[in-house]
Amino acid sequence: MNITLANGVVMPQLGLGTFLVPDGNVAYETVLHALKVGYRHIDTAQMYKNEESVGQAIIDSKIPRDQIFITTKQRGHSTVENMLKSFEESLIKLKTDYVDLYLIHWPNHDKKINQQTWSLFEALYREKKVRAIGISNFQRHQIEDLLETATIVPMVDQVELHPGLSQVPLKKYLDSKKIQIESYGPFMKGGVFEGIWGEALSLIANKHQATIAQVVIAWGLKKGILMIPKSVTKERIEENFKAKDLRLDDSDIQTIDELNRGKRVYTDPDNSPWGPYTE
Ligand SMILES: NC(=O)c1ccc[n+]([C@@H]2O[C@H](COP(=O)([O-])OP(=O)(O)OC[C@H]3O[C@@H](n4cnc5c(N)ncnc54)[C@H](OP(=O)(O)O)[C@@H]3O)[C@@H](O)[C@H]2O)c1
Repeated sequence: MNITLANGVVMPQLGLGTFLVPDGNVAYETVLHALKVGYRHIDTAQMYKNEESVGQAIIDSKIPRDQIFITTKQRGHSTVENMLKSFEESLIKLKTDYVDLYLIHWPNHDKKINQQTWSLFEALYREKKVRAIGISNFQRHQIEDLLETATIVPMVDQVELHPGLSQVPLKKYLDSKKIQIESYGPFMKGGVFEGIWGEALSLIANKHQATIAQVVIAWGLKKGILMIPKSVTKERIEENFKAKDLRLDDSDIQTIDELNRGKRVYTDPDNSPWGPYTE
């Protein structure tokens, strides 16, 4: 199952998330196992501090580089020089000479800073050091500000998205701009297994002899969303990957859509601590 981005780059719709996967043996074994199971899309970030092990697992998998889609994210806004340096460090750690998708991890509260960072991303794209560029945690108003000066429209926006926060208005806006939406935190920090979500999702899971995690992933896939569930547990890595074979029907999708409560469990981009830098 692939998604074609606005610039024609094809990416596997289901990938492995690696937030809070510790560098070293855990990240190495997790990514190696995921690649063995069939994942071909790995989501990491400079902030996760595990790019080195992710890169080593990719090398040791012996899968050709062009068959694996790697996303990484710029740690923080800074001077162009500093940001270029951290990009080059990512390439070294990941043991590659290009990144498939490079994202601004968080918007800054100062739009000029976001615009400056984006112009660096555009330069990296033009130099073919990245195959696609995008943003993460950008709300509509932050994208509108970015587009005031952008010469390339971001190809992806990775945001918190799960059955408790379906991001309906944002997705509608992104669709209108041909920006692909990507979900993070699909399990709502465990919330999908409990309360109104757990109750409704377990009924659907039982109906399909599947698990709640698989139902959530299949829901996102059917809605055309990029999904990157994280697990360090071998069985769950496999379980999550098998969600691509689960076919939910329209009534299942509607039931899950009705679980939307605008419930954010990660940081709100409009109230993040990432303010203007002073360098
Ligand atoms: N751009 C951003 O700002 C941002 C923010 C957050 C996340 N992300 C990305 O999105 C990815 C996914 O988000 P996330 O890692 O925060 O959360 P998540 O994927 O929603 O949930 C991960 C948690 O769910 C557990 N889990 C995984 N599969 C399961 C299953 N089949 N059954 C029951 N529990 C299961 C994992 O446990 P075990 O690992 O112990 O198995 C872990 O505790 C991240 O890894 C990262 O790549 C991006």
